[in-house]
Amino acid sequence: MATVVAGYPSLHLTPMTLPLRPELEGLVPYGAPQLDVEARLNVNENPYAPPPSVVDAIAQAVHHAAQGLNRYPDRDFVALRRDLAEYLLRESHVDPLTFDNIWAANGSNEVMLHLHQAFGGPGRTTLSFAPTYSMYPEYARDTVTTYVELPRQDDFSISVPHAIAAIEQHAPSLVLLASPNNPTGTALPLAATLEICAAAATVPGGCIVVVDEAYAEFRHSGVPSAVTLLPDTPNLAVSRTMSKAFALAGGRLGYLAASTAIVDALRLVRLPYHLSAVTQATARAALAHSRELQAQVAEIRAERDATVAWLKSEGFTVADTDANFVLFGPFANREKVFEGLLERGVLIRVVGPEGWLRVSIGTAEEMALFRAALLEVRE
Ligand SMILES: Cc1ncc(COP(=O)(O)O)c(C=O)c1O
Repeated sequence: MATVVAGYPSLHLTPMTLPLRPELEGLVPYGAPQLDVEARLNVNENPYAPPPSVVDAIAQAVHHAAQGLNRYPDRDFVALRRDLAEYLLRESHVDPLTFDNIWAANGSNEVMLHLHQAFGGPGRTTLSFAPTYSMYPEYARDTVTTYVELPRQDDFSISVPHAIAAIEQHAPSLVLLASPNNPTGTALPLAATLEICAAAATVPGGCIVVVDEAYAEFRHSGVPSAVTLLPDTPNLAVSRTMSKAFALAGGRLGYLAASTAIVDALRLVRLPYHLSAVTQATARAALAHSRELQAQVAEIRAERDATVAWLKSEGFTVADTDANFVLFGPFANREKVFEGLLERGVLIRVVGPEGWLRVSIGTAEEMALFRAALLEVRE
């Protein structure tokens, strides 16, 4: 049926047939609700806003960057990569780690997309272990990469023999391992990462193992980071983000540490100037104040451990977690519990296997609200 556009009687628009890729037909965009409620505990953000001193430092850096916004930014963002390398060096004491071992993009989501653009594609496979981060299949879908997901064990750990057999069977070009895993909080032991990297190294054509450490800074002390494996493991890439521990989700800065060969491949697929001058200035100012920004990480970890202990004392089953969130259950009707909490101003997430719910760790006040509301709505 043709549409007559008001005021333009001679112009007829025929309803358009969108040439949408068939695999996108009927899908909805990914994203959790963004609701202005008292306790927003659904997307694993840091509940503490940056302190005023850091806000001032970021504002000054952006003010300086704004004076050069007529020019494109440094497309290789070397200064930012140097700062990120220094941060990881301070944290993990891995030497050598220089700017050419670092890549960054608008959130680790974009880093993952770059990995798929460079190493995935038609006829190639990404392998991961469910339940895990729900964006993984989307990176694969958007780059026409086959996505194979195998189950984790009952305690949400990955069976290494199972993973090795899957690598032999599917010959993936990418293996995605979130550690701590979202939504379960499970950390992957370094020995397991090493064995999986060794199996991946035997894949004809090559295979890169990505350890997604978006929540690394929240891990319990004594739980090591895969960054320490980098010097001796050329097919390993470790992804990090400033969205969580750095309290900079709105700044959109994710990064990756890997061999220079992997980083050079990512440079081929990025759009030119993908990191704006404003983003680079914001991230560098935040990195210069990483201690102040992460001042509450210890508090969040303590609140997480207290939340786990409380949930267990109330008889819930709780997944072991090294992240800033907790997966708990079981619920016969988790949607009803979710709705009941929301009615009381507490927004959490319906995610993970049937019967489980995930709560992000908020401030002490938000967690008190969560506990009180959960006691009222529990079945
Ligand atoms: C496991 C995992 N990886 C990556 C991301 C993406 O984070 P960002 O794009 O903000 O860096 C998230 C976000 O929640 C996540 O849970």
